[in-house]
Order: sequence, then structure tokens, then C-alpha cells
Amino acid sequence: MRLANKTAIITGGAAGIGQATAELFAKEGASVMIWDLTDHGNDVAQTLSAQGYKVSFEKVSVTDKAAVQSATENVIKQFGRIDILINNAGITKDKTLLKMEQEDWDKVLAVNLTGVFNCTQAVAYHMKEQQYGRIVSASSNVGLRGNFGQTNYVATKSAIIGMTKVWALELGRFGITANCIAPGFIETQMTNAIPEEVKQKLTPMIPAGHWGKPIDIAYGYLYLASDEASYVNGICLTIDGGSAR
Ligand SMILES: NC(=O)c1ccc[n+]([C@@H]2O[C@H](COP(=O)([O-])OP(=O)(O)OC[C@H]3O[C@@H](n4cnc5c(N)ncnc54)[C@H](O)[C@@H]3O)[C@@H](O)[C@H]2O)c1
Repeated sequence: MRLANKTAIITGGAAGIGQATAELFAKEGASVMIWDLTDHGNDVAQTLSAQGYKVSFEKVSVTDKAAVQSATENVIKQFGRIDILINNAGITKDKTLLKMEQEDWDKVLAVNLTGVFNCTQAVAYHMKEQQYGRIVSASSNVGLRGNFGQTNYVATKSAIIGMTKVWALELGRFGITANCIAPGFIETQMTNAIPEEVKQKLTPMIPAGHWGKPIDIAYGYLYLASDEASYVNGICLTIDGGSAR
């Protein structure tokens, strides 16, 4: 039980990597709060609760600062503390630079960048008071090397690496660590949108020879959220089967 007596918020916990993380954290003893836009988060919470785990859901958009603040207070009321924030919610709206609409840019920045800022700022006050916290955010290996058709997404994923380093500097003295993960190609609804022929071209670029599963990233989140990683601060952990070269 690596997360016994810990309370974790997982944004985007209704699907994909976030759902796998909610399941893993609950099984490792955490009380889990899923924040997501979709009601499927409620199904995830109910299924895990029926198995005896402590999992709740609140419908929150990370883009809505007031809603995030109120949901943060609700976690404090329900669980008494917030030990772990997993900034996992993210979206894509891919287009090449010359075709990208302002709306594609604005929406991706609102969720992937401002959303991460909103959630981190809201919980950091509580983590500072309790002199303990683990903040782990979803970057991407494209945030390290760029990617065709993803000006907006790459801007946010590179920014997450930078913000993480700032938070490590600012919050380290309060017993808080801030780290991020750079996943490679992981099989989720996000990457389901990639046409099959493109996927087949991408697979040989992965030294591991296959795409990752959501649980591969959930294990990374678990490590960085655990006490075992208490001296790990400001890093970006790449989990991509070796494809970022
Ligand atoms: N799948 C990959 O290959 C991959 C690779 C690198 C990085 N990532 C990152 O990992 C994270 C999880 O990706 P995934 O593949 O599991 O995605 P996903 O699309 O399967 O799940 C994302 C979840 O986030 C939720 N969400 C979207 N907007 C939200 C908002 N405004 N507020 C709250 N919740 C919101 C969605 O409803 C969904 O449940 C994302 O940040 C993504 O950018 C994924």
C-alpha cells in the first residue's frame, strides 16, 4: 500500500491514463477524487467504490477557475487534506500552423495549460499549510522534440516541463515536489483519433516495438506521487518505450 492514508485528485480521471491511475491509486490505498467533464467519471468512481475502494467523482472543468477552487474545498471537506495532484486532463486539436484556427489554439491552451495552472494553484495553498504535497503533471514526449501538426499541444506540453521546474524551486521548501511525465504513444481515446495507417507508420519508430498502455503511465505517476520519490523534484520522466531520441 504505497499510498495508504493519502488523498489524491486526478484530473481527467474518467478515461484513458487518468482512469488507469484512479484504479491503481485506489488499490494502493489512496482516497481518490476524480475531476472530469464527462459523467463516465461517476461510473469509474461507483465501480471502484463497489469494490471497497475510496473513490469519488466531481464534474469539473479544469478551465473553470472558480469551479476548481470550489471542488478543492469539497475535497478538503470530504477527506481533510490533499496530498497528491495528478494534472492529467488534456486534449488535442491538431492542425498544421498554417491551418490552425484561433479556436484550436485557445481551447488546447485553456485545458492543457491554464487548467494545469488553475488546479496547481488551488491545491498548492493546502499543500503548503500541511507542509506536504506531490504534484505530477502530464507533459508529452512531443513537448521535448516537437511534432508535426501540434503547435498548440506542443506549446502546452513544453510549458508543463517549464512550470514544473518553477514549482520545484518555489514549493520545495514546503515539503512539496513537482514533477511531470512525458508519455510516448499510449493507446487511449486520444490516440484513437489517429488514422490506422499513420499508427502503423509510427509503430516501427518505437524501440519497444509496440504502443504503451495507460497503466504504463499510471505506474510512473504512482512512483512520483509516492514517498519513495521524496527526493525527486523538478524532473520530466519520459515513458515512451524509447522513442524520444
Ligand atoms: N495517449 C497518449 O499517447 C499521450 C501521450 C502523451 C501525453 N498524453 C497526455 O496524457 C494525458 C491523458 O491522456 P489520455 O490519452 O488518457 O487522454 P483521454 O482523452 O483518453 O482522457 C482525457 C480525459 O481528460 C478529460 N478532460 C478533457 N478536458 C477536460 C477538462 N477541461 N476538465 C476536466 N477533464 C477534462 C476527458 O474528459 C478525458 O476523460 C493528457 O494530458 C495527454 O495530453 C497522452
